[in-house]
Amino acid sequence: MMEVIESVKEMQRRAEALRLAGHTLSLVPTMGFLHEGHLELMRVAKKHSDILIISIFVNPTQFGPTEDFQQYPRDPEGDLKKAGEVGVDIVFMPTAGQMYPPGSQTKVRVEKVTQHLCGLSRPGHFEGVTTVVAKLFNITKPHIAVFGQKDYQQLTVISRMVMDLDMDIEIIGVPTVREPDGLAMSSRNSYLTPEQRRSALCLKESLELAEKMVMEGERNCAVVKQAIEALIRSRPFTRIDYVSLCHPVTLEEVDAFGEETLLALAVKVGETRLIDNTLIRRPGK
Ligand code: PAF
Repeated sequence: MMEVIESVKEMQRRAEALRLAGHTLSLVPTMGFLHEGHLELMRVAKKHSDILIISIFVNPTQFGPTEDFQQYPRDPEGDLKKAGEVGVDIVFMPTAGQMYPPGSQTKVRVEKVTQHLCGLSRPGHFEGVTTVVAKLFNITKPHIAVFGQKDYQQLTVISRMVMDLDMDIEIIGVPTVREPDGLAMSSRNSYLTPEQRRSALCLKESLELAEKMVMEGERNCAVVKQAIEALIRSRPFTRIDYVSLCHPVTLEEVDAFGEETLLALAVKVGETRLIDNTLIRRPGK
């Protein structure tokens, strides 16, 4: 039977007891409104552990003042049903009061890899993410935690935090799950009108265009970036936040395609901000 736990203390007691009994615990942190991408993270986590914990918490501290915290889609009943079907053992579902009681004043900040890509347009976002994830790790005590590669920078930032703070947790990244037409799965896709939904395909098409150009011999990042920007601008409702070709570890912009280059995109389609990315490998000589 799947357990649902709302209290921090009770979750800690349960996790500790399971560890003492010799179980391997995995955690998939989520903000709910679960889709196939989340379920895939859970299936992977299940393969690496015998107790699968997920957290469902729409974390207010990672949203900017003008962002969509209030509107963020929520479906706790649907989420519990889906979690049950995948075989989740424990759902940790705290209230904001449980996670941030009055008086809390500690934050976790990763310095450099947060200064690029989404860090530029969402100040404070990653501090909110690392703080809540560190807390979720301390509450659920996992051996393994699983995150999606769709949020490539988030995965990078969390891996860095785990290394720097000597957290004894293995971080596993899972490839992006896409809709049949290629749109990366995201809870925010639910905001899109049918016309915007069609325009949103320009993210996936940009990744394909860049891969094709590099495959055909292009090595100049500025040329590829220009082609992508033209493609995105040709679609209605779109506004580019960033198109970045960068080093896959430091996330610093690069001028020429190296052995591996990360292409990361953030595009507003109407009022909905979407992200996508791919790791581009330079073809061998
Ligand atoms: O990726 C998310 O849904 C969130 O950023 C996370 C990791 C659950 C932290 O709130």
